[in-house]
Amino acid sequence: MSEAIPANGQTIFVTGVNGHIGNHIVKDLLTHGYAVKGSVRDLSDPKKVDHVKKHAETLGVAERLHLVEGDVLEADGWAEQMDGCDALFHTATVYSTSGDATVIIDTANKGTQHLQSIRQAVMPPSSLIPPTKARSICSPLQMNVASKELSTPQALLL
Ligand SMILES: NC(=O)c1ccc[n+]([C@@H]2O[C@H](COP(=O)([O-])OP(=O)(O)OC[C@H]3O[C@@H](n4cnc5c(N)ncnc54)[C@H](OP(=O)(O)O)[C@@H]3O)[C@@H](O)[C@H]2O)c1
Repeated sequence: MSEAIPANGQTIFVTGVNGHIGNHIVKDLLTHGYAVKGSVRDLSDPKKVDHVKKHAETLGVAERLHLVEGDVLEADGWAEQMDGCDALFHTATVYSTSGDATVIIDTANKGTQHLQSIRQAVMPPSSLIPPTKARSICSPLQMNVASKELSTPQALLL
């Protein structure tokens, strides 16, 4: 079991935290001292939240994880959710090659546009990590955070 380092005072917003990439990002951020505000589509569904909360509980930092609800196809509500956060990991997409193509494309395009426009309004520059770059932060050895404003560990967006 990894141990969490002390809180560094910075809060990172992560979309799609119940997803494969999102929940690993949450764990890494908490381990490296960040607080996390994470979005899911259905807070009332234990299958969407319990495994994410377990990361914080296992690390003994439950107070550093705050989950909120949001659908990235909706433009409204994100500004209030993301206000006060220092950076954004946007992983909420439909990761599939089957299903309704319109939904898949809209979720990727409109979803990212919604999050990016809010991120630009309420966060420091360089505070977005798009889903296509998500793999670059999942190194088991080093947590990469794409904001020069963030404290260590620092890394540039690749
Ligand atoms: N998996 C990989 O190995 C890998 C590698 C590199 C890059 N990526 C990229 O990382 C991103 C996420 O992949 P993943 O493997 O984590 O996918 P995933 O496990 O399917 O997770 C997708 C997440 O997006 C959420 N989501 C989908 N539509 C949404 C909407 N309209 N509003 C809000 N949330 C929504 C899902 O929530 P629900 O559970 O409610 O549907 C889920 O939390 C993708 O862009 C993918 O291309 C993945």
